[in-house]
Amino acid sequence: MLELSGINAFYGQSHVLHDISLRLADGAGVAVVGLNGMGKSTLLKSIMGAGPTVRGPVRLDGQDLDRLAPHRRARLGLALVPEDRRIYPHLTVAENLALAGHAGTAARPPYTVEEVLAFFPLLRRLAGRKGFQLSGGEQQLAAVARAVLARPRFLLLDEPTEGLAPLIVDAMGTEIRALRARDGMGLLLAEQNVEFARACTEHVLVLNVGSIAFSGSWAAFDADPAIRDRHLSL
Ligand SMILES: Nc1ncnc2c1ncn2[C@@H]1O[C@H](COP(=O)(O)OP(=O)(O)OP(=O)(O)O)[C@@H](O)[C@H]1O
Ligand SMILES: [Mg+2]
Repeated sequence: MLELSGINAFYGQSHVLHDISLRLADGAGVAVVGLNGMGKSTLLKSIMGAGPTVRGPVRLDGQDLDRLAPHRRARLGLALVPEDRRIYPHLTVAENLALAGHAGTAARPPYTVEEVLAFFPLLRRLAGRKGFQLSGGEQQLAAVARAVLARPRFLLLDEPTEGLAPLIVDAMGTEIRALRARDGMGLLLAEQNVEFARACTEHVLVLNVGSIAFSGSWAAFDADPAIRDRHLSL
């Protein structure tokens, strides 16, 4: 269980997240939606301890992560694919994936590069290509695959579909659903693509200027069209 109990996040003097509470059980899927600048990325980075100053507890199985650097949190089973997903341009896709191999734990050993390439058929034929020889969308797919290789307990994905062709969005959705089913991976997904988010998760949290404007099931979200009208672009 990953649990945030009323956290606040700051960049210097700027107070960006306000009293965010959230519970993500193992295997559960929660989407974080909202317009540009509402705090989605800040929320994911706060959980990873990567960037903003955070006040208030972020707990994993009751353990406060407060003082743990991002790589320590990774070892406990968290993986973040940030907005500026960097893969190494001069390494091949397979080499980029292999770099994540040291991550896993005894309880959750990492996947092999071969296994991950089998999960992402679009990447398989690109395995020998260098990062700089990939399209933006292919790089995004590679960054997601690299995070998956560590077999995280909780995968934090920051707008993985941004700028992707519809075909790749579909492929990514299929892979993410399969991974969740196969491995009981928890997913926290920041997205502006509501249809993709809905296809990958059960619950949705709407952020509005750093506060929770709505939290509930997709059915509850759909039952109140005003939420969508007010907080999401069409
Ligand atoms: N490094 C930073 N330093 C200062 N302010 C920041 C920093 N990163 C983000 N902010 C501010 O924090 C607020 C939330 O930004 P955040 O990136 O979390 O939004 P977002 O919902 O992810 O937006 P987008 O959909 O555009 O990615 C914005 O007002 C933004 O300007
Ligand atoms: Mg963002």
